[in-house]
Amino acid sequence: MYSEKVIDHFTNPRNVGEIENASGIGTVGNAKCGDIMRMYLDIDEQGVIKDVKFKTFGCGAAVATSSMATELVKGKTVQEALTVTNKAVMEALDGLPPVKVHCSLLAEEAIHAALWDYAEKSHIVIKGLEKPSDDIAEIVGDEEY
Ligand code: FES
Repeated sequence: MYSEKVIDHFTNPRNVGEIENASGIGTVGNAKCGDIMRMYLDIDEQGVIKDVKFKTFGCGAAVATSSMATELVKGKTVQEALTVTNKAVMEALDGLPPVKVHCSLLAEEAIHAALWDYAEKSHIVIKGLEKPSDDIAEIVGDEEY
């Protein structure tokens, strides 16, 4: 049911934790399943993501997608980080079962929320970044869980 990569990132998640004085912090939940993810970004003056950590209170797919998402955004510029969509994260994990696709949206939205927080704090605009929702249930709609 799950790919080896998903199982690997679930059992051995990368970049778990918090960053003190993070440049941006994003918290996103899913009111339907109750899962929550918090993403911390450390961004330098050049707009490069030097470090990233996450905490996820959620299902295995949410943990695995958060872990992979942190690996994908690390070292990228804030603009490049926008290309780390839930689809990109799922592809990097060799796919997710259809009923678990919504879990990968938590990771994408948490990155966006952390970038939004960074942009607000630094008084900049990140082109292409829209204000993220703090509840992905609004995006997913009535999909089965
Ligand atoms: Fe809630 Fe996976 S994120 S079931």
